Amino acid sequence: MFISFEGIDGSGKGTQVSLFMDYLSKKGVDFVYVREPGSTPLGEQIRNILLFSQEITPKAELLMFLASRAQMVERVVKPALALEKLVIADRFIDSSVAYQGFARGLGVELVKKLNDFATGGLKPDLTFYIDVPVEVAMARKKHLDRIETEGEEFLMKVRQAYLNLVKEEPKRFVLIDGNADQLTVHRKIVEEFEKRRKG
Ligand code: TYD
Repeated sequence: MFISFEGIDGSGKGTQVSLFMDYLSKKGVDFVYVREPGSTPLGEQIRNILLFSQEITPKAELLMFLASRAQMVERVVKPALALEKLVIADRFIDSSVAYQGFARGLGVELVKKLNDFATGGLKPDLTFYIDVPVEVAMARKKHLDRIETEGEEFLMKVRQAYLNLVKEEPKRFVLIDGNADQLTVHRKIVEEFEKRRKG
C-alpha cells in the first residue's frame, strides 16, 4: 500500500506524518518513509537547491521536483512496494500539480502528464489531504523557506488546487479537517487508514 500526505505549508502535515509513523511503529507495521523532494542522495541535493537557491524559474523548479521524484520512485518506492511494504510519502505528485501546475501557472494538465512520465504512472492508493484555511496556516508557520515566502495569495491558489483534486479523485483522496487539534486529526487519519487496510 502506498499512502501520501498533502497539504499547504503550515497545514500540520509534517506533525501528522510523524504521529502516523509513531502509530505504525507501535502496531509493528513495517513501512518505508519518503519525503519530497529528497529520499535519495540525488533527491536530497535537489532539495537543498530548491529550498535555498536565490532564483529558479518556474519551469526549472518543476523539472527539479520531477527529477527528484523519478529517482525516488525507481530507487526507493518501487522496490519497497515490490516487497509488499507500506510506503508513506510526505508529498508526492499532487504537490507538483497544486504548486507548480496551478499556483505557479504552468498548467495542471501538463504537470499531470509530466508526473506520469516521471513516475511511470504510479499513484498512491490513498492520499490524506490535510485542509486548513490559509490564515490558519500562515499563523502557524514561523520559519519560511523559499517557496513558503510566496505569501497568502499563492497559498490560496495551492489550497484551491488541492480541493479540486480531491473532487476529481474522491476514491483516492481523504479530506482531513486540519483545523481540529492534533490528536483529533491524528485519530481521523488512523481511522481512515484502518478502514482501508481491512477493506
Ligand atoms: P515540505 O518539505 O513538505 O515542507 P513542509 O514540511 O514545510 O510543508 O515541502 C517543501 C516545499 O516544497 C513546500 O513549500 C512545497 C514545495 N513543493 C512543491 O512546490 N512542489 C512539489 O512537487 C513538492 C514535492 C513540494
